[in-house]
Amino acid sequence: MLVSAEEMLKKAKAGHYAVGQFNINNLEWTKSILLTAQEMKSPVILGVSEGAGKYMCGFKTVAAMVDAMVDSLGITVPVALHLDHGTYEGSKACIEAGFSSIMFDGSSLPIDENVDKTKELVAICKEKGISIEAEVGSIGGEEDGVIGAGECADPEECERVANLGVTMLAAGIGNIHGAYPDNWAGLSFETLDAIQQKTGAMPLVLHGGTGIPDDMIKKAIDLGVSKINVNTECQWAFQKATREYIMAGKDLEGKGFDPRKLLAPGAEAIRETVREKIKLFGSDGKA
Ligand code: 13P
Repeated sequence: MLVSAEEMLKKAKAGHYAVGQFNINNLEWTKSILLTAQEMKSPVILGVSEGAGKYMCGFKTVAAMVDAMVDSLGITVPVALHLDHGTYEGSKACIEAGFSSIMFDGSSLPIDENVDKTKELVAICKEKGISIEAEVGSIGGEEDGVIGAGECADPEECERVANLGVTMLAAGIGNIHGAYPDNWAGLSFETLDAIQQKTGAMPLVLHGGTGIPDDMIKKAIDLGVSKINVNTECQWAFQKATREYIMAGKDLEGKGFDPRKLLAPGAEAIRETVREKIKLFGSDGKA
């Protein structure tokens, strides 16, 4: 059964570790992440961007696939199916489709409009027992067409949005989707500290988990981050392993062309990446 992310994140905040959100793109991705979370006895959040949802034939297909897979693989750790950077319409569609968690990303809107729409969606989610993530300040770079300038969030605005009753809050602190440029200034811990002081027990979300050095991840967790999103790093791992398989000519040997063989190294590489992240975030053994 899919669960709201509320309980797992409250526990993470209290226990000073973070739960990973790993984005999914297809069946192999989903299976790899679920099996690894189970192996590590870790709660897990499966992230679905609107673009990936469309690619996987719509939110209903995704919800049905994930729900059935949790059951057929015998997954007993808590699993939340979460919309990533949702629009207002996308948020409503995911609630309808059976997601157990949503993110409404109103960060590109004027703050009053972000507050109004977040508030409306909080009321719907509360009634249905679904967790909801809001965003203040934008995440730099581009993810599935969602583009952000990467400005740091205003702690006062964070407090305002946290007080709407959201489950978790994503706040821009200099983080970027995808690769970090060589001249990246690093995470703004000053901003994170100020946000944590204003928002208290609210689980904070760190987007752009790919490529953040381990010591910065640990410091962010110390300062109140309880959910960390990783997407690109699993894509790179899958691509690298698949490329190696083909470049070694393995697809030409015997039945190496069989998709179950062709996609296996990539799927195993995703598992290794997820394993490393779960260890780094400290959520292993916490389910
Ligand atoms: P990365 O692709 O940089 O890991 O970011 C993932 C993310 O923040 C999803 O919302």
